[in-house]
Amino acid sequence: MQRDLRLSTIVVTSYPIRNRLAVIKSAAVKALSELTVAANRSLGGEIRLLTLKVPHESLPLLEHVHAGRFMMLRCDESEPYRFRRPFSFASVDVEAGSFDIYFKVVGEQTRRLADSTPGAQLSGVLPLGNAFTMPPPGTPTVLVAGGVGVAPLLLMARELAAAKLPRPRLYFGGSTSGDLTLDYVSKLPVEVHPATDDGSFGFHGNIVETVASEGVAEDTRVYACGPVPMLKALAEMLPQAVHVEASLEEVMACGIGACYGCAVRTDGLGYESMKLVCRDGPVFDLRRVRFG
Ligand SMILES: Cc1cc2nc3c(=O)[nH]c(=O)nc-3n(C[C@H](O)[C@H](O)[C@H](O)COP(=O)(O)OP(=O)(O)OC[C@H]3O[C@@H](n4cnc5c(N)ncnc54)[C@H](O)[C@@H]3O)c2cc1C
Ligand code: FES
Repeated sequence: MQRDLRLSTIVVTSYPIRNRLAVIKSAAVKALSELTVAANRSLGGEIRLLTLKVPHESLPLLEHVHAGRFMMLRCDESEPYRFRRPFSFASVDVEAGSFDIYFKVVGEQTRRLADSTPGAQLSGVLPLGNAFTMPPPGTPTVLVAGGVGVAPLLLMARELAAAKLPRPRLYFGGSTSGDLTLDYVSKLPVEVHPATDDGSFGFHGNIVETVASEGVAEDTRVYACGPVPMLKALAEMLPQAVHVEASLEEVMACGIGACYGCAVRTDGLGYESMKLVCRDGPVFDLRRVRFG
């Protein structure tokens, strides 16, 4: 059965349209219909790097692209009734007017995205959501990635380097070595600590066990993205004093706070509240998230 719904269903039955439009009208968020595929290459297995160029008049938008923020991208323009899909920014080049998306083919839309060729035009809404916070100068940082959850951390690594912060450790875990794009990540300004569940490369075990085995000092900032069990285990394992931010990857229909499909429970100031991953996140203080 198709998971996609028609967008009109959402608009009619869910949230006041003014809330949706408020997001789109925000000066730093645009719906772009002319994103040109500049490159689309395999990084190994089902993992790919897509480079999209923005039209000249939209270049200022790229100044607002930061690690953790995301876009809603239509993966195939021949099917305009399909929902757009959320993707993080893996890198941005303001001078070249382009950005990269690091993605894994997991279903129909990512398969279509993998098939897009240079010159093709796609449409998307960007940049959405919040970003990881930058640590104070000199702070040691650790990046913890589960599989394709490495995507927003690639840009974070670049931003940390640009801000002249100490080189982070990147804990990069996958089920098997095919999930680790080591040729690509080893070119980043990070110290890579790989792990695989099957022991085919790096530490034999899950990535949180790897972080635990090496330890995290209390003055460290941790940035993470990956599956929920990984994030839960990370929050439990880290010393309470460690500040940890995580980008959550909920399934999203609208991406702009209209459908309430991406709600998560959080705990702040002693009471629980529901937050929308697309509008209030995707980056949260991991200690505040109450996973179901
Ligand atoms: C804020 C955000 C940023 C993201 N950034 C990236 C990125 O940079 N690179 C990337 O490859 N993926 C990213 N994702 C996940 C990506 O959006 C999904 O993989 C994509 O929507 C799948 O579409 P599909 O039609 O190919 O697969 P579908 O047919 O929709 O799904 C295939 C399988 O993937 C699962 N799935 C779908 N969406 C998600 C999700 N959001 N989280 C976990 N499992 C999911 C489904 O449950 C199903 O089992 C991000 C998600 C969010 C919310
Ligand atoms: S995806 Fe619709 S409200 Fe978040």
